[in-house]
Amino acid sequence: MKYIRDIPFKEFVDSHHKAVDEDLANLRHSNEAGSVPLIFTETEEILGLLIGLTHPSRILEIGTAHGYSSLFFAKKLPDARITTIERNPVMVEAARAEFSSRKEGERIDFRTGDASEILQELVCKLADADVSEKFDFVFIDAAKSHYMEFFEAAEKICTKDALIVCDNILLNGWILEAEGKDAKRHRTSIKYMKKFLEYLRQRDDLEVSILTGADGLAIIRFINEN
Ligand SMILES: C[S@@+](CC[C@H](N)C(=O)[O-])C[C@H]1O[C@@H](n2cnc3c(N)ncnc32)[C@H](O)[C@@H]1O
Repeated sequence: MKYIRDIPFKEFVDSHHKAVDEDLANLRHSNEAGSVPLIFTETEEILGLLIGLTHPSRILEIGTAHGYSSLFFAKKLPDARITTIERNPVMVEAARAEFSSRKEGERIDFRTGDASEILQELVCKLADADVSEKFDFVFIDAAKSHYMEFFEAAEKICTKDALIVCDNILLNGWILEAEGKDAKRHRTSIKYMKKFLEYLRQRDDLEVSILTGADGLAIIRFINEN
């Protein structure tokens, strides 16, 4: 299997990528050099296009790592507030340092702990809240076996016009592996990601776009009746 991150187009696409600013270019470079997980340039461009078209003001992100994508959202949308969730203490410490050293960090509400628990707290607080308090863009980029759970919580606390974007739905190509070493090692993620994609396909109230760019994205919006 030829994995997405290895294809020659990736280098070509990367060479055409224009960073939001020098600060973010440097952060990408240091994250990549330190093997810190972060969005592919192609994912960044698709996210940039989506937020440029929809102008969200309250973004929920699940999976912060060192804060690259949170800072990307904050820099692209100078009036938006970003809530981002991370549980790994090493990542938490690094992201905290990145946020506190930049003015954009003031608009980032950093929630630390397990996303399942934090999402439940947010659901309790926001499920019946005014629409002005709900999220209008959600980016799911954490534990790949939990996307369905994250999605079901997220949809309770976002507006009816929100977009929900899920990263890495192709699981680095493993989604197509039926047998072999990788299929065995990643069988839980493969099983749950397939279940999640089938669940999305069966929901008549959603419009779901599955893209194969980068490591695969699902872009979801609610079909509103009015
Ligand atoms: C792919 S990285 C996020 C990259 C980040 N969005 C970026 O582009 O800069 C996924 C992160 O999700 C975190 N994570 C995984 N499962 C989680 C969970 N259940 N709750 C909170 N964070 C989680 C991991 O520790 C990891 O740092």
